[in-house]
Amino acid sequence: MLKNKKILLGITGGVAAYKAVDLIRRLKDDGASVTVIMTDASKNFITPLSLQIASGSKVYSGLFEDPMSHIELSRDADLMLIAPATANIIGKFANGIADDLLSTCILSFRGKVVIAPSMNWRMYENPMVQGNLKRLTAHGILQVGPDKGTLACGEEGVGRMAEVNEITEAVKSALSKKDLSKKKVIVTGGPTREYLDPVRFISNRSSGKMGYAVAGECIRRGAEVILISGPSALQAPKGLKAFFKVETAGEMREAVFKNLSKTDIVIMAAAPADFSPEKKENIKIGKSEKLSIKFKNTPDIIAEIGKLKRRPLLVGFAAETGKRLDRARAKRTRKGADIIVFNDVTEAGSGFDVDTNKITIIEKNKETPLPMMTKYKAAEAIMDVVSECLSK
Ligand code: PMT
Repeated sequence: MLKNKKILLGITGGVAAYKAVDLIRRLKDDGASVTVIMTDASKNFITPLSLQIASGSKVYSGLFEDPMSHIELSRDADLMLIAPATANIIGKFANGIADDLLSTCILSFRGKVVIAPSMNWRMYENPMVQGNLKRLTAHGILQVGPDKGTLACGEEGVGRMAEVNEITEAVKSALSKKDLSKKKVIVTGGPTREYLDPVRFISNRSSGKMGYAVAGECIRRGAEVILISGPSALQAPKGLKAFFKVETAGEMREAVFKNLSKTDIVIMAAAPADFSPEKKENIKIGKSEKLSIKFKNTPDIIAEIGKLKRRPLLVGFAAETGKRLDRARAKRTRKGADIIVFNDVTEAGSGFDVDTNKITIIEKNKETPLPMMTKYKAAEAIMDVVSECLSK
């Protein structure tokens, strides 16, 4: 997601500097190249050599080592990230002080800046620090964290640097286009459970990964996102407007329709069960009982939305067993959806549970077959098509 992006990472003198190696690795895994600027104080916590090895490039520190580096480094970067950001660098930045390479580069940089503050909770709560942070965020600087927890000094409070995945998420969000800003989106994900008795249920396979990836992508692009999820082990993405956990298809339907008014886009990535037992027993069915279960259809949520006179842009998924694009096309028409995302759930690396998917995005007059890619990338591709449809 950060392919070809150049990140200038400023590391300042806080104990969380030790997390920089992991941070660099994650940014590089996502395709970014990382150039590091260290303050002198940060070298008490991590060595330049470790960072040179992690980033694979020269580590900068002295203002006069390369005479023009304070201009050249910031001119080439797509984003500046300061992690950890001490009270000192925050204070300098907010007041336009440039007395070393990092603070000079910050002032000469014209792109997005993300800061991850890290300090003792009393320092963080100090009105001077808070005032400086307010000043920075008012100028469009993006702040991630700090989190609450046990600090290096052993005290409890707000001051821990945000987790590495939160920081990388903030970087991705900062670099994402904001083409969905002000759009209200409902995303569904995960399976539903239809109970036979208080102990047993039938369900569909779905981890929630595809739906959660779509929700994350919509947040990054500036949308107001409501995620409605069946049972899933995943953590909800940060920045949701609301998160509803449901169990049955009936509950999923209710949550979708409760939130539907003024919604611009609905994306049904969930795998609701198509059948539920006609009767749910109130007590556990004994195993000696000869069992014959009658099923009824669950509400077809997407088809109900598809029938509405005034409805949001509607995106469904078609989980097919085999290359049945014909079935997916028919589903799009039958369910009244604008877009159907076909995935063959029998193909290795595609469909349920895995981190990748191979999709074909089917619109009325256009089909976009895509190679196997991560679900994050697939979500990006889907939202590109959605965004194009909205702009028509
Ligand atoms: O969660 P993962 O492990 O990441 O797996 C992702 C996925 C394979 C579940 C996902 O990519 C996917 O294909 N989701 C749709 C699964 C499904 O129910 O497909 P379907 O072809 O049976 O349904 C077609 C559409 O109708 C879907 O958008 C579905 O959400 C919707 N539907 C289905 C049943 C129902 N009662 N109400 C519905 O709205």
